[in-house]
Amino acid sequence: MELKSTWSCPSNIALVKYWGKKGLQLPANSSISFVLSDAITTTTVLAKVKNDLEPEPQFSFLFHGEPQPSFHPKILKFLTVASEHLSIINTHILEIQSSNSFPHSSGIASSASAMGALSLCLCSLQEKLDGEEDENFFRNASFLARLGSGSACRSVYPGFAEWGKHHSFENSSDEFAIDVNSIIHPIFKSLNDVVLLVETGEKSVSSTAGHGLLTNHPYAAKRFEVANEHLTLLQEILMNGDTDAFCRLVESEALHLHAMMMTSSPGFMLMKPETLHVIEKIRTFREQSGLPVCFTLDAGANIHVLFPEHIKQQVMDFVHNQLIAYCKNGAYLCNVVGSGPNKLD
Ligand code: PMV
Repeated sequence: MELKSTWSCPSNIALVKYWGKKGLQLPANSSISFVLSDAITTTTVLAKVKNDLEPEPQFSFLFHGEPQPSFHPKILKFLTVASEHLSIINTHILEIQSSNSFPHSSGIASSASAMGALSLCLCSLQEKLDGEEDENFFRNASFLARLGSGSACRSVYPGFAEWGKHHSFENSSDEFAIDVNSIIHPIFKSLNDVVLLVETGEKSVSSTAGHGLLTNHPYAAKRFEVANEHLTLLQEILMNGDTDAFCRLVESEALHLHAMMMTSSPGFMLMKPETLHVIEKIRTFREQSGLPVCFTLDAGANIHVLFPEHIKQQVMDFVHNQLIAYCKNGAYLCNVVGSGPNKLD
């Protein structure tokens, strides 16, 4: 018997960053993010009963319809760990087909959307095989996604998700992310994220290597403490709708992430001169206009410009007039807070 499942799943951008891990993909500090409306991976998995007793997971993988052997080791590693939780990976051959709605290496975390979509498909297939609904479906998909890529566990919910045991968030866990939309002020549910592509191409440090650099980092313990404090503060801000405090905290978080990279050994300077120019322009614009627009950064040079919907016109004029000149070929990607994954079968 063949079983099939298709899901789309968004990427996400963290406001308090996960950088540093322990054990099996458990976070060294808690993080919070929102999913992006227009950075989506769509994955279909076809499961066919295995006839042999080959212990290793068996799968094929097509990306945009083409074989992608370079992705195989990561998928195999993920399926091997995931097979301890889902029997279907041991009993079936998996034909995986995936495509992204956004360019690869654009600084958008494609591993989050990809591992999210694959985990949702696998959990759906397991449900079909078991013939019963899993009442903790999204929590289990988040748990599974975490095993593939930590930040992916925050991608299986709509809007905002928190990951990591934290005293301010009831039911929070290191093992899976939780949906925190009920506490979010409407102004933050209307956030736009314009990603300015000042750099395209492969990352100079993979996240696996980056997380590893925190193991012997002289500032690691303090950073984990500060990140958790930032989350306490941000929770309050997200609840009360204080956009000025939001801008200050979110920018500081992004710079903490890069400070950790710069001061690790070896150290990485992931920002480019264009990144700094854009940061200065955003800060000057905010000061002069009084509008709540700010930036965050991922582990790369590209800038996420964040602002609420009601000031979109003014901010997009500013982006066009002053920021696009710093982007490679004038490229940028527009997102709002996304509505989360979709089951497509
Ligand atoms: O999920 P990973 O292992 O790719 O790590 C992602 C880390 C950051 O994107 C830099 C921050 C975050 O919390 O998403």
